[in-house]
Amino acid sequence: MSTLKHLVPVPVRQWLRSRQKAAQKSLIHLDRVTDWSVLRRVQPYRPEFGGRRGQYIDRFYIEQFLAAHQECIRGRVAEMESPQYTQRFGAGRVLQSDVLDINESNTLRTMTVDLARPEEAPENLLDCFLCTQTIFLIRDYAAAIRAAHKMLKPGGTLLATVPGISPRVPQSLVAGAGEDWWRFTARSARLAFGAVFGEDRVDVRSYGNVLTTTAFLQGLVQEELTQDELAYNDPDFELILGIKAVKSASA
Ligand SMILES: C[S@@+](CC[C@H](N)C(=O)[O-])C[C@H]1O[C@@H](n2cnc3c(N)ncnc32)[C@H](O)[C@@H]1O
Repeated sequence: MSTLKHLVPVPVRQWLRSRQKAAQKSLIHLDRVTDWSVLRRVQPYRPEFGGRRGQYIDRFYIEQFLAAHQECIRGRVAEMESPQYTQRFGAGRVLQSDVLDINESNTLRTMTVDLARPEEAPENLLDCFLCTQTIFLIRDYAAAIRAAHKMLKPGGTLLATVPGISPRVPQSLVAGAGEDWWRFTARSARLAFGAVFGEDRVDVRSYGNVLTTTAFLQGLVQEELTQDELAYNDPDFELILGIKAVKSASA
């Protein structure tokens, strides 16, 4: 078979591979879960958050949270790992956009900061820090919150998200540095961020419901749920927590 493969010119092989990928993609919609009885199982319907079958369910809530606070994404903004949300939600208000990471192989990085070492973090620099899906990867999460607070200018805003109910994130899916250490509840997030920013400067909201949480755990994707199902909020099912924390103007 491998001998035969070499008889096919490289451009033809590339074309065949692209056709194969396109055919696989066009078949994805045939494998949408509509009959929920298939979820009576002890292993998830699809491992690893459903792979690349569609958009992850937690992203619906992360983006809903950022959209709700987009007016805070302004001035000098730093975002973890890439500028995707700065560009999407801060358009027209952002004067300087930075990408913060400890991971030196991240070519998008413009600021190298170890959030676990607040003593080394720059001070009073940012109007807004977008810290999505990161603090739970840092063993000393309280240090990371202190670093975020230190980097903000007085009156600056931290917009952070952390998982509430989620499968363990395997190391192969942790982009860059860190390990899956923590899960939060709305109550514990309020306590942790309130201890650094002050209780009255922290606003925590949970996102999710029993259906979306179940679907997320089973590796289903946004495309398998309706917009109404995704948007329904039940505070007893905390799939994602969104934390808005504002540094005191007199800090
Ligand atoms: C899973 S990504 C999350 C950010 C991404 N934009 C998102 O919302 O999915 C986590 C990022 O945090 C970085 N990271 C992990 N530990 C860190 C630390 N102690 N200091 C700074 N960055 C860290 C990782 O290298 C990675 O770029």
